[in-house]
Amino acid sequence: MDGAKGLETLSKEVLQFINGKRKLLIDGKWVESQSGETFEVYNPATGQVIAHVPAGNKEDVDMAVKAARKAFTEGSPWRKLTPSERGRIVSRIGDLILKYADELAQLESLDNGKPVSVARAADIPLAADLFHYMSGFATKLDGSTIQPSVPYTPGAEYHAYTRREPIGVVGQIIPWNFPLLMAAWKLGPALTSGCTVVLKPAEETPLTALRLGEICQEAGLPDGVLNIITGFGETTGAPLVAHPLVDKIAFTGSTEVGKLIVKAAAHDLKKLSLELGGKSPVIILDDANLDIAIPGAANGIFFNQGQCCAAGSRLYIQEKVYDQVVEGIAKYAKNLKVGPGLDPTTQLGPLVSQIQLERVTGFIESGKSQGASAASGGSRWGNEGYFVEPTLMVNTEDHMKVVQEEIFGPVVVATKFKDLDDDLIRRANDSVFGLASGIWSQDISKVHRLAARLQAGTVWVNCYNIFDASLPFGGFKQSGWGREMGSLVLNNYLESKTVCISL
Ligand code: NAI
Ligand code: MG
Repeated sequence: MDGAKGLETLSKEVLQFINGKRKLLIDGKWVESQSGETFEVYNPATGQVIAHVPAGNKEDVDMAVKAARKAFTEGSPWRKLTPSERGRIVSRIGDLILKYADELAQLESLDNGKPVSVARAADIPLAADLFHYMSGFATKLDGSTIQPSVPYTPGAEYHAYTRREPIGVVGQIIPWNFPLLMAAWKLGPALTSGCTVVLKPAEETPLTALRLGEICQEAGLPDGVLNIITGFGETTGAPLVAHPLVDKIAFTGSTEVGKLIVKAAAHDLKKLSLELGGKSPVIILDDANLDIAIPGAANGIFFNQGQCCAAGSRLYIQEKVYDQVVEGIAKYAKNLKVGPGLDPTTQLGPLVSQIQLERVTGFIESGKSQGASAASGGSRWGNEGYFVEPTLMVNTEDHMKVVQEEIFGPVVVATKFKDLDDDLIRRANDSVFGLASGIWSQDISKVHRLAARLQAGTVWVNCYNIFDASLPFGGFKQSGWGREMGSLVLNNYLESKTVCISL
């Protein structure tokens, strides 16, 4: 496969990694699953098997959680580190991701299908940056000093302060759309806070997380602090959520599974942070600079094959510029170079799996059957691998499935609006989700008014999909609980303790 059809040649390290025997990381050792079972990992560009990884189950999860518990006990090598030493390890993980960037980019492209150029430019450097950004907080997890008044103990004096302490053992369950980056979003703050972790990568894309496990060891992370169990949602993810020795679950994935996790966590009230689905509105006003708005809105949906929780998947375009914008985005879509991720000239790769291919083409068909039509794309691309044409759907109505539900593919719906009024705001907010949103306009007053009224965790103005370790990200409504990144994410992994002393 490599070297053929203009594809990038896979490096020796990548070939060794996928052909070698992949194992689970438990207590600092790479071990087979207790059952000995494995599952297949596919190349989304061809549908062919590229690797086998262990299928972890309840017993493996139990061993991993116990290792994480032990690594968290008072006096363990991890707990004995000073904040500065802990931060340096987190920072070294970032350094090593950059050192192995080429290898990681190829592995990510091979496993997920995404263009290797995108993995190299975005996924890998963003993952490294996340560790670097977080590492600095290790020495700054300060509490505060407080002078209480306590009116019912006249004359008494108190001194009080707060401490911020790691929550404990964290189960982290991540999706397949940005496999390494999602691992970084989760691990960076958890390790910085001093927690220990059992990480479950998505079954579709386990490879870079396993490589990251090796990198964390090389960075000097003590045994048991990070354990990695590959496997499926019901057999690996669910036992992790149910495990009584896990203090907290951090999850990114579907809203459907998010709700299952909330139910499962109810019996022992595990702490939860959830980053779930989206159906993000993008509003293009008629005063926008269309030279940037058209490619910007197109990239807002087609980036990563539309497999972004924040994808700008509903376009609201002001009447006067509607035809021009629709024409421009359709043209942009038709000009995108579709192909295997390992072709360095590819701009749009395959979807991650056969299931996602069927799901996304099913949505397109449902839109057509309800009266919508495709101004570009509208079908599967080619007859090998999991490709879908970049698709712009028009003649949609707000109640249609394609307008209401998360498609998670390169499919955007476009509708018109007349004025920037309450009705536009109502339509933009007419979603169970509230993850992100976009505004394209040069009128600063309109931008601020709109930004305040959109029910979304992020509002991008004259840009889209701008992610950075410093920018908190997460959802209103059914898009989740808590925030990733920025300093806010540390709240997901720290408990606050109040110490009150009578003097
Ligand atoms: P999913 O939510 O089933 O998978 C995400 C992770 O959860 C995976 O690691 C999976 O193994 C795990 N999981 C599944 N069931 C579980 C359970 N019962 N207990 C614990 N962990 C469990 O998402 P899936 O099936 O891959 O994709 C379905 C749809 O979800 C997509 O079409 C998309 O709409 C949405 N999605 C949203 C993502 C986001 O970033 N917000 C990421 C991936 C999918
Ligand atoms: Mg699922």
